[in-house]
Amino acid sequence: PLAYAEQVGQWAALHIVKRINAFQPTATQPFVLGLPTGSTPLQTYKALIALYQAGKVSFEHVVTFNMDEYVGLPQEHPESYHSFMHKNFFDHINIRKENINLLDGNAEDVEAECQRYEQKIKAYGKIHLFMGGVGNDGHIAFNEPASSLSSRTRIKTLTHETRLANSRFFNNDINAVPKHALTVGVGTLLDAQEVMILVTGSAKAHALHAAVEGNVNHMWTISCLQLHPKSLIICDKAATMEL
Ligand code: GLP
Repeated sequence: PLAYAEQVGQWAALHIVKRINAFQPTATQPFVLGLPTGSTPLQTYKALIALYQAGKVSFEHVVTFNMDEYVGLPQEHPESYHSFMHKNFFDHINIRKENINLLDGNAEDVEAECQRYEQKIKAYGKIHLFMGGVGNDGHIAFNEPASSLSSRTRIKTLTHETRLANSRFFNNDINAVPKHALTVGVGTLLDAQEVMILVTGSAKAHALHAAVEGNVNHMWTISCLQLHPKSLIICDKAATMEL
């Protein structure tokens, strides 16, 4: 049998494929998919690549928007979200280069970059399906605790806890983890037609509790899901320990 985390990835991938295929995207009516980074979605990307290779889905008319990107990390740095997405997903599917959207964490004018991103999403109408993960402290994208629930794409200062959690990708050196990131806002996420969040492992149990059983509040921005008419959480058993 598949490990639970793998099952979560399989389920999520099949859900995405079902949505893309039902939509029947074309060049003028593409399917717009929001995407995360992190270790949780890795299984989903693997499963999506396998489904693509098996001829079950095409990404030719899929447009993607990534949630976030570190500020000041060179694009070609192995831990930039730009590198992550190409290595783990885009390089293995038939997505068109011009359909890939990522925030530029090295933009000279950060505010203009964030506005450009919001406008580009708006130009497509809406994001049809936004996939995400959650941080141990309940952040969605990089909407750290105390982010406004109506926030839009902007720069955020990362919390010590988030930098510590992500230092595992930087040789466990917290000083190597960028201090800021560009991120879509909670409001940007809530505008999506459907939101699907993957939660695996016991480290996420408090966040899942806050998301499902806590009240809607800006200290656990994942709780914004309760405000969304079509949101979905896919989790493994370990993540449910606090429910
Ligand atoms: C980062 C990302 C989030 C992600 C979180 C959890 O902070 N900005 O989008 O959900 O990490 O990552 P992981 O799946 O590795 O636990």
